[in-house]
Amino acid sequence: MLATQSDVQASLFTRLLDARRRTDELFDLVRPDALYDRPIAERHRIVFYIGHLEAFDWNLLRERLFRANSFHPDFDHLFAFGIDPVDGGLPTDQPSDWPSLAKVREYVQGVRDELDDRLAPILDNARNDDSGEFPASQLLNVAIEHRLMHAETLAYMLHQLPFDRKRSVETPVPTGTHPRTAVGGAIEIPGGSITLGLPRNGHQFGWDNEFEEHTVTVPAFAIDRYKVTNREYLEFMDAGGYRNRSFWSAEDWNWKESASITHPVFWTRKDGAWHWRGMFTEIPLPPDWPVYVSHAEASAFARWAGKSPPTEAQWQRAAYATPDGRQRDYPWGPEPPNSSRGNFDFFSWDPMPVAAHPNCASAFGVEDMLGNGWEWTSTPFQPFPGFAPFSFYPGYSANFFDGKHYVMKGGSPRTAACMLRASFRNWFQPRYQYVYSGFRCVQNH
Ligand SMILES: [Fe+2]
Repeated sequence: MLATQSDVQASLFTRLLDARRRTDELFDLVRPDALYDRPIAERHRIVFYIGHLEAFDWNLLRERLFRANSFHPDFDHLFAFGIDPVDGGLPTDQPSDWPSLAKVREYVQGVRDELDDRLAPILDNARNDDSGEFPASQLLNVAIEHRLMHAETLAYMLHQLPFDRKRSVETPVPTGTHPRTAVGGAIEIPGGSITLGLPRNGHQFGWDNEFEEHTVTVPAFAIDRYKVTNREYLEFMDAGGYRNRSFWSAEDWNWKESASITHPVFWTRKDGAWHWRGMFTEIPLPPDWPVYVSHAEASAFARWAGKSPPTEAQWQRAAYATPDGRQRDYPWGPEPPNSSRGNFDFFSWDPMPVAAHPNCASAFGVEDMLGNGWEWTSTPFQPFPGFAPFSFYPGYSANFFDGKHYVMKGGSPRTAACMLRASFRNWFQPRYQYVYSGFRCVQNH
């Protein structure tokens, strides 16, 4: 039976509450005396994000859906925007520059009370409100996915927090498919077409950068069956990968030298052996897990291997196209994501072996494409033909069409299921190391 419009609206409210629970749990992981820490130099202190998630929802919905008055304009402004400095300039604010935790929490509760009182009648009457300039369902989806994206980027941030600054939680042991040893190799993808993006007249929610739908032709290429593993990356390191200038672009080399980078940021050296620094503990480096590295490091590995990261269109074709010229909803077929299909949707805090989910292979047999770590592409983040920014959030994508960000596809262990749709595009700066992102390589014929 088809869901009615009011079912969809009610589920949006439930999803908003679920997303709040998700981010509340993350802040609860942090010891109270660490909430004013800044685990990543390029980002705000943790306390900012407590206020930001509510300020975003309130600033987005307050006038457009409710015409309500602000009860704390200073905080609406203070917590409005995150940061992503591209010029090397780092924030210099001090903990004492921020309001007390009690004041921030009071603001958060105030926003939730104001929103929830007003959302119920609006969503009950959604058919009317969905016909206006700002459809309630679109704004709610923006609020939900914005929060879920922060649930992921907050995990990157808390990952960098020292273990004794956070509380450990039980991590579920991966179940399902018995991990196989990855026997990699490359898979031939014949030349053909692939459709990217979403149609504007469709009914699926997407961010501004996912429109407009368009089809491109991709010449034949070969792509790695799996993401590059820690074992493979170690071969690159042992071969002098970080010491040989010829593998690096001039900008990447200068960055690596000036920041004294000699290994992936998630690796540590202890007792003469490499270890994985996980969310809550350190373990001997798991050889079959995907390596997480910056775009700069991924590109250097690819150059050493005589290959390159895929373009966005190549990645999309390897994931979703079929040999008979059709296109799948997900790499494995039409079934929606669940934990048997990959390492995503908050099931795990850390990666799994790259060969752990053979039942999620694409039609061409490429594995582990959704979850277990984003995958860098060689495509700079640019608008699709027909792009138009959301009037209510003009800078969401357009501020990053600067040639200084690269598209990532797939998803990580901390990517929510709703963002595993084929059209979803993620992007980061090429020398930002803290993302749960690895890569696989292609060979062009
Ligand atoms: Fe944000």
